[in-house]
Amino acid sequence: MTDPLLQLDHVRVRYRTRRMSFKGAVVYTDAVRDVSLELGEGQTLALVGESGSGKSTTARVAVALERPTSGRVLFDGNDLALIGRAQLRDLRSQFQIVFQDPHSSLDSRMQVLDLIAEPLVIHKWGNTGSREARVHQLLDEVGLPRATTGRQPHQLSGGQRQRVAIARALALNPRLIVADEPVSALDVSVRAQILNLLSDLQKQHNLSYLMVSHDLALVNHTAQFVAVMFRGSIVESGPCDQVITSPAHPYTRALVEAVPSPDPAMVSPAGTVREWPEHASGLGCQYANRCPQARGTCFDTAPPVVELQLGRSVACHFPLVAGTTTAPTTSTPNTGA
Ligand SMILES: Nc1ncnc2c1ncn2[C@@H]1O[C@H](COP(=O)(O)OP(=O)(O)O)[C@@H](O)[C@H]1O
Ligand SMILES: [Mg+2]
Repeated sequence: MTDPLLQLDHVRVRYRTRRMSFKGAVVYTDAVRDVSLELGEGQTLALVGESGSGKSTTARVAVALERPTSGRVLFDGNDLALIGRAQLRDLRSQFQIVFQDPHSSLDSRMQVLDLIAEPLVIHKWGNTGSREARVHQLLDEVGLPRATTGRQPHQLSGGQRQRVAIARALALNPRLIVADEPVSALDVSVRAQILNLLSDLQKQHNLSYLMVSHDLALVNHTAQFVAVMFRGSIVESGPCDQVITSPAHPYTRALVEAVPSPDPAMVSPAGTVREWPEHASGLGCQYANRCPQARGTCFDTAPPVVELQLGRSVACHFPLVAGTTTAPTTSTPNTGA
């Protein structure tokens, strides 16, 4: 992939928690330990993992709603931490985020007209007349009647609210949309409609999507590339079809096996994904305690990142797919937070 539109380079996000250690020291937690990813123009990268793995934090970092504790975020080659305020303001119009629950992300007291026009107002785009025309155009694009402009979010269905959120995200003609579980809060019956809408919009506008999902089953239909996250790190990434049909990380395999699949060849004994406590030393592979393959070294040494082929890698001592090159891992051991 040449010149990615979005690049995350060893991003780490550390939060201060409310907990205290027995010595009375502040306890920190790494929501994101070590995430590197690349997303090209017009492409979709799905970020998949169970709840609490750091997907939303990564999504917020990618659109500069949050700063990484360390590591870099580059948009179109610009390091978001190094550019000036004015340039960041300009760049902000080029990346937008759509949240999981439009009920809480859209201000319920505002009318749809104002909600969709707000980014235009903030970026001083056009005048009242041209903004209203733009809102009508956006409503057409997301498949909502123009009469929706006078409504408030609570008067709309979940699917309609998500369409409003998408229209708002599209208002400034962005190049990248980060969608954090955009259909998880919706009725199953409308999920496909919203995913189809996102896919149509992508083709029309050559949009890039970073699509967060806890559901691997959805990913194969929506993304070309997938990155699997576990406890703040990407454990495997690559083209969707390859990762799903022949997972290289035991965690990815557990996810694949937990996915109800119409293909009997992909269905294996259920119950592989279970909850385990973090292992005490905090060193080694974060997945070791849950991993059916784990051996001694997995518990005390961080796994290397193995490049299986161009664009496909896995962080595992004993990958399920043979690799060609081994690079030393860059992930830092858990410091016990
Ligand atoms: N603002 C915050 N302060 C402290 N901890 C946080 C904060 N945001 C997220 N976390 C913690 O970071 C971890 C990852 O959270 P999140 O990125 O929301 O994961 P996901 O979206 O995959 O469910 C969780 O353990 C969560 O409790
Ligand atoms: Mg989340």
